[in-house]
Amino acid sequence: MILRIDTEGAVVEVDDGDATRRIPFSDPEAFALVSKAWLRIGWDVKYVYRFTWLGRPIIQLPEDIVRLQELVFRTKPDVIVETGVAHGGSLVLFASVCEALGHGRVVGVDIEIRPPNRAAIEAHPLSHRITLVEGSSIDQRTFARVRENVEGAKRILVLLDSSHAKEHVREELRLYSTLVSLGSYIVVADGIMRDLAGAPRTNEDWRWNNPLSAADDFLAETDRFVREESAPLFDEGTAGTDVTYSPGGWLRRVR
Ligand SMILES: C[S@@+](CC[C@H](N)C(=O)[O-])C[C@H]1O[C@@H](n2cnc3c(N)ncnc32)[C@H](O)[C@@H]1O
Repeated sequence: MILRIDTEGAVVEVDDGDATRRIPFSDPEAFALVSKAWLRIGWDVKYVYRFTWLGRPIIQLPEDIVRLQELVFRTKPDVIVETGVAHGGSLVLFASVCEALGHGRVVGVDIEIRPPNRAAIEAHPLSHRITLVEGSSIDQRTFARVRENVEGAKRILVLLDSSHAKEHVREELRLYSTLVSLGSYIVVADGIMRDLAGAPRTNEDWRWNNPLSAADDFLAETDRFVREESAPLFDEGTAGTDVTYSPGGWLRRVR
């Protein structure tokens, strides 16, 4: 498919080899097509590696940051568990929303928390809302430590953002979904990998070896969770879709 953006005419031309369609910028389909191309370009230039949250690098698409903030506001969790800490930016994001709400704390799990990252997170003004657990997220001993850390919490929200290999995420879903309270969510990050196969710094197997496939398998085996598109708390626009690295990644516990 070839996409041409006519900024003079405010139309997108889509050429699928057989025919060319002209879609006005005001059509949600034009927004979706250009957003998809923009996400791919953003991957190629490593766009998500240029943001911080209250001083810590956060490896998230800004659009996803806004939606995650909305999710925390909506669910008001007692504890947020996140696998995949890296520099700690998303932990600090969650901790900052908890701080603003005056409620909630965060447990971050990573196979390796590098000493400079640990030091910066522990010295952060929001460190009183953050607990770090080091170890592979799917190791039973790590998971047991996470369970100890959430004991007594009634409302728990989970974000899976560690290794994105399908089998790893599948196992994380099996373990960490047991923590999620009724009505809350387990969010699977980076399902975009499926659409990026063939781009620089990717592998061909990303077509199936990705978090979205893990979520599909999980949902096929359980009736406790349903897939939900991120639901904006405010929407007076006509775009209709989110620009996200985590398509199909919001799973809500319904029973
Ligand atoms: C994409 S980064 C996390 C980004 C972070 N959530 C943020 O938004 O800034 C992925 C992290 O997963 C960690 N990781 C990789 N394999 C893991 C595993 N088996 N268990 C736990 N963490 C793992 C890596 O060490 C890395 O820090």
